[in-house]
Amino acid sequence: MKLPNIRLEVMNTLEKSMNELSAKYLKPIEENWQPSDFLPDSRDPNFFEKIKELQELAKEMSYDLWAVLIGDTITEEALPTYEAWLMNIEGVDQENENGWSKWIRAWSAEENRHGDLLNKYLYLSGRVNMREMEVSTQYLIADGFDIGTSHDPYKNFVYTSFQELATNISHRRVATLAKKAGNNQLAKMCGVIASDEARHASAYIEFVKRIFDLDPNEIMLAFDDMMKKKIVMPALLLRQSGGAIGSLFSHFSDAAQRIKVYTTYDYIDILESLLKEWNIEKIGGLNESAEKARDYLMALPNRLRRISDRIVVPEKQYEFKWIGI
Ligand SMILES: [Fe+2]
Ligand SMILES: [Fe+2]
Repeated sequence: MKLPNIRLEVMNTLEKSMNELSAKYLKPIEENWQPSDFLPDSRDPNFFEKIKELQELAKEMSYDLWAVLIGDTITEEALPTYEAWLMNIEGVDQENENGWSKWIRAWSAEENRHGDLLNKYLYLSGRVNMREMEVSTQYLIADGFDIGTSHDPYKNFVYTSFQELATNISHRRVATLAKKAGNNQLAKMCGVIASDEARHASAYIEFVKRIFDLDPNEIMLAFDDMMKKKIVMPALLLRQSGGAIGSLFSHFSDAAQRIKVYTTYDYIDILESLLKEWNIEKIGGLNESAEKARDYLMALPNRLRRISDRIVVPEKQYEFKWIGI
């Protein structure tokens, strides 16, 4: 189905502000943190001492915390999937110095540091079966992933707003748990990643805000559609060697729920914060179907809360091939 052309007009209007928005939400490359800022330098004569220290600090972390950290890393490492998907949005053009494609490239370049840092940390930690993790990563990228947004910029930016908030929460919580386990080093790493995610979330939230100013009816319907379908997590098709496509996701997500790194209540909190950010309750001049969508969205947090109260997370830890020898 061809999308109405108004979306393209809106994208072209916003495109004119992309230099300003990139300067506001992305950092100059040479001032930005890099993975090596947080890892031992292999040229250092004390390198092996530092690795020992790093491995010592990693000893007190729980099994579920490792599972979540590795799953988060694999999710970050599947960045090619997300970049390719975003490049396909209507209004994004890789030719002609289009501001949108510049944004996506610069955003990907920042995101690329996340998987890079975590991957190197996990390799040095002495706790991870790297081959198994790499097999899962290659599978996740090769299997691809349907975000459920088609080429629609509105749905995509609702998705990315949601997703950046979700990753902010999960990295921040892993940082807190690592700190509690005495691992300040890892806590710092997850902390800087979380603050990147928060900055990215603010950017996508502003894109959607600007779309609400220009085309409130259609963006309301896009938000409604995304929430009705549910925001699917990028690790949905996760698997490990020998396993069927997607068979590992529920175990990964159960581990995250058990240690409260990312729960169904976080999903609801994110929804509520987006309702507030975009001032959904007070947006005026909507047509009938957008009004209906607004009513659905405003009632959704309470509905989801009632369902979540009935969800029971299995207590038993799942055995991941990623962890241990
Ligand atoms: Fe990230
Ligand atoms: Fe992100």
